[in-house]
Parts: sequence; structure tokens; C-alpha cells
Amino acid sequence: MLHEELKKQLDQQGLSESTPPSSITEWGLLLEKVSKHYEEGQNDQLLAKKSFQIASEELQAFNAKMFDSARLASLGEVAGGVAHEINNPLAILLFANESIEMELAEENPDIKQVNKFCQDISREIFRIKSIINALTDSARDGSLDAPSLYHLGEVMEECLKLYQTKTRTNDVALDIQNNIPEKNLAECNKVQIMQIFINLLNNSLDAVIPLKDRERWIKIILDYHESEYVISINDCGDSISPDLHAKIFNPFFTTKEVGQGTGLGLSLVARLLSNHRGTIELCPDSPSTKFIVRLPN
Ligand SMILES: Nc1ncnc2c1ncn2[C@@H]1O[C@H](COP(=O)(O)OP(=O)(O)OP(=O)(O)O)[C@@H](O)[C@H]1O
Ligand SMILES: [Mg+2]
Repeated sequence: MLHEELKKQLDQQGLSESTPPSSITEWGLLLEKVSKHYEEGQNDQLLAKKSFQIASEELQAFNAKMFDSARLASLGEVAGGVAHEINNPLAILLFANESIEMELAEENPDIKQVNKFCQDISREIFRIKSIINALTDSARDGSLDAPSLYHLGEVMEECLKLYQTKTRTNDVALDIQNNIPEKNLAECNKVQIMQIFINLLNNSLDAVIPLKDRERWIKIILDYHESEYVISINDCGDSISPDLHAKIFNPFFTTKEVGQGTGLGLSLVARLLSNHRGTIELCPDSPSTKFIVRLPN
């Protein structure tokens, strides 16, 4: 294991570590220690450089694992809601099926009516299929997928399918305004774009659902101008206080109760966006919480 090699090197340098670092902070401290030694030139520089390189590799592997857990955690949040999303169409399927059976038991069944129920069944099966597709698409580790062309408005619509019941049962008005022309397709990794949208939507829902003193809403606007996609996700929560603006993008920063949030959602979003040369910012002059995502074409 890399850590063993690093430990041996550090022991030789008198920078001994008794246990492998287990958090990003501990890794940071170890890296700082090694690089300080390196800078001070107290020891063989090549050896110190190697230790530094090994520690960086371990840190990268640790980071990848950590963000993978964050990706799965954000999906866990929506997966629970999907069972409800599917219950509705299932109830319609059951009703349509029973109605067909009853109609066919008649002496002169009304074939037009039977046809109509058959169409209902096809439509609802399609609805269930598209909900399951959205979930399985977004749950994949798409990091190795080759980028392809997608309409970002359609990708967002696909994500919203996972939230219909949650927003309805919590009285949250979910509004989407898609101003991206049909012909404008973005070259992107769809799975990662879905994970970006899902994390932002989870955050907005977590913020607005507890609000009892106002109408609850989330507004999404997708625009395209000057070779750039601009997507704003705005919710009715009060704007985030300025002293938290920089902190919220830090890994592990959360204001949620212990066990409620990992604090990795926004850093995962920033990381996935940087894979697309995109950015995310919090709109500082909005009276409500508004995140702006920019993706170059
Ligand atoms: N829409 C929002 N409204 C209010 N605060 C927000 C919003 N989005 C993010 N935040 C703040 O930013 C913090 C960090 O968000 P982030 O998504 O990184 O982690 P989290 O949501 O706390 O945890 P997790 O994403 O694992 O559920 C949140 O705890 C919250 O304080
Ligand atoms: Mg979050």
C-alpha cells in the first residue's frame, strides 16, 4: 500500500506517522509537514519530493472515493421519492386493467372504450419507464463516459421527473423556464450534468420545505447567450448570509444537522462543472437564494 511506502520514507526523515490519515484534514496536515521539510531542505530533497508525490496520489484516491460517496448520498435522497412517483402511474394501470376486464366481460364490449384504456396503459408504462431511466441514468458513475450532445433543458426536465411527488406533497411550486433554442445542444457528460442539477435541487428543497411563513417555490431558468449556457436555480429561501458565501463551497461545510448532510454536495457540483470548464456562483444581490451555473458551449 502506498501509505506503507510513505510511512517508511517519513520514518527515515523523522516525520513519522503512526496511523494512515483518515480524513482530508489529516492528509492536508501530513502534506503540509512533508512539503515544509522539503522547502526547508533539511533532508534529501529527492526523498522528500517522492514522499510528497506519494501523499498527493493517496490524497487523490481518497478524494475520488469521498466524492463517489457524495454522489451516491445525493441520489439516495431522491431515490426514496421515486417509489411515490411510480405509485401514481401504477394505480392508473391497475384501474385501466380492471376496467378492461369488466368491459370485456360484457356481452357487447365497447371496443373504443377498451382501446382508450389500452392507450392509458401505454402512456403510464412510458411514464414509469422514463422515471426509472432518469434514476438509473443519474445513479451511474459516468466519469468515463465520452461527452455527447444534449439539450440542457431536456436534461433538467428529466431530473425534475424525480421531484414531482416531493414538490407536490410539500406544496413547493416548481417552475421551469427553458429559453435554450431547440437546436442548441451542449457537448457534455449527461450523467454528470444530471448530478449537478440533482445536488442543486436537493439543496433548494432542503432549504424551502421547512419554511412555514411563505409560499414555497423553486424557479429554474435556462438561457443561452454569447456561446454560454446560463442556468439559474432560485428558491424562496432568504439569501445566504455573506459570511457563508465562500464557505458553502468547501468540502464538508454543512449547516445541516449531524447525519443530514455530508457537506460535499456543492464541492461535487463545482468539481463536475470544472470537468466541463463551467462555473457556479451564488448570486450576491438576489434577495432570495439563487445559484448561477455557467457552461461554455
Ligand atoms: N439553496 C440553498 N439554500 C440555503 N442554503 C444552501 C442552499 N444550497 C446550499 N446551501 C448551504 O450550503 C451548505 C453546503 O451545501 P452542500 O450541498 O455542499 O452540503 P449539504 O447540502 O449540507 O450536504 P449534502 O449535500 O451532503 O446533503 C448547506 O449546508 C447550506 O448551508
Ligand atoms: Mg447538498
